[in-house]
Amino acid sequence: MSYERDNIRRMAGYQWGEQPDDPDTIKLNTNENPYPPSPLIGQALASLDPAALRVYPQPTAEPLRRRVADLHDLEAHNIIITNGGDEGLRLAMTTFVDPGQTFAMAEPSYSLYPVLAQIQDARLTKIPLQPDWLPPVDFAETLNAAGARMVCLVNPHAPSGTLMDVERIEHLAHEFNGVVLVDEAYVDFVDPHRGYNLMPLVRDLDNLLILRTFSKGYSLAGLRLGYLAGANPLIEPMLWKTRDSYNINAISQALGLAALEDPSWASSSWARVREGRARLSSGLNQLGFPVTPSEANFLLTKVPNHCPLPANRLQQHLKAQGILVRHFDSPVLSDKLRITVGTDEQNQRLIDVLRETLGAEKDTQ
Ligand SMILES: Cc1ncc(COP(=O)(O)O)c(C=O)c1O
Repeated sequence: MSYERDNIRRMAGYQWGEQPDDPDTIKLNTNENPYPPSPLIGQALASLDPAALRVYPQPTAEPLRRRVADLHDLEAHNIIITNGGDEGLRLAMTTFVDPGQTFAMAEPSYSLYPVLAQIQDARLTKIPLQPDWLPPVDFAETLNAAGARMVCLVNPHAPSGTLMDVERIEHLAHEFNGVVLVDEAYVDFVDPHRGYNLMPLVRDLDNLLILRTFSKGYSLAGLRLGYLAGANPLIEPMLWKTRDSYNINAISQALGLAALEDPSWASSSWARVREGRARLSSGLNQLGFPVTPSEANFLLTKVPNHCPLPANRLQQHLKAQGILVRHFDSPVLSDKLRITVGTDEQNQRLIDVLRETLGAEKDTQ
């Protein structure tokens, strides 16, 4: 006898990227920042008084909420702090999409979205991206025709790294009848010359939610801290009704504040990742691996025909050499690998192993 709800019994659950025990593994599979968090994080941890953990944390993480609002020139009432960006996604799904109603996503994109839709027992509409990884021009019409209550878009897109411009998102939010959630998990790595900033739109659009995380840009994936920005009528129901009672623990609140006290530390890691991204991209190109231009901390590359191994076997081969990268078994992605930008040494090791792999083929021909 199963006590699970039918939709839960039918679903498979989220498949996370491998988290190896061996600290020497070169981990280019889950898009973490290869550089350490600010030293202020260590100081904040050391100065935490365990006695303070006796009481519950500030329920809405108010000091951090205000600090985040200042960062984006918004009001605290535009922000909800969440237990990782993933909690923000879950809150939006459970607050804005009724069971049986339609949730829409661009395909391919973050594999957690369908899982959350299944948990909510929502109907899922996947709208294929164009070959340039951008949504089709009639995206809003398609969403409206499907009766979608909410759509999630990753920008810069995962797994391609393609950046959609602000005007397109603004147009979409104007045309679409539901909530537009723009998942900016990787936005910190966008080249500042692109001048991309969606946050001001929060003041004008009543259906726009923007997700941010400390996991990538602030090197704090282990902490589980993120936030959503949006018009207050979108934030309020999540903050006062659907959120867990004390969703942000006291340690996360203190460390989030410490991270934001050291913006130059974080932004110098973003610049290093961008430099590494350019070098890794040209290294891959030189080996004949075409790379989609990326504004994120990862690259999507198609495994070329002259490689002796198809993408899935190349991923296994790299793993055997101590290098983890991500392969997705889906029609559009099965011939590609997603590679997180690592440190220069890690990137170089990957390039060396790929070169050996290609060379091994030549030797055996
Ligand atoms: C596209 C996208 N959105 C959101 C997240 C959530 O990140 P976190 O829950 O660590 O903040 C991730 C994590 O990998 C992601 O890839």
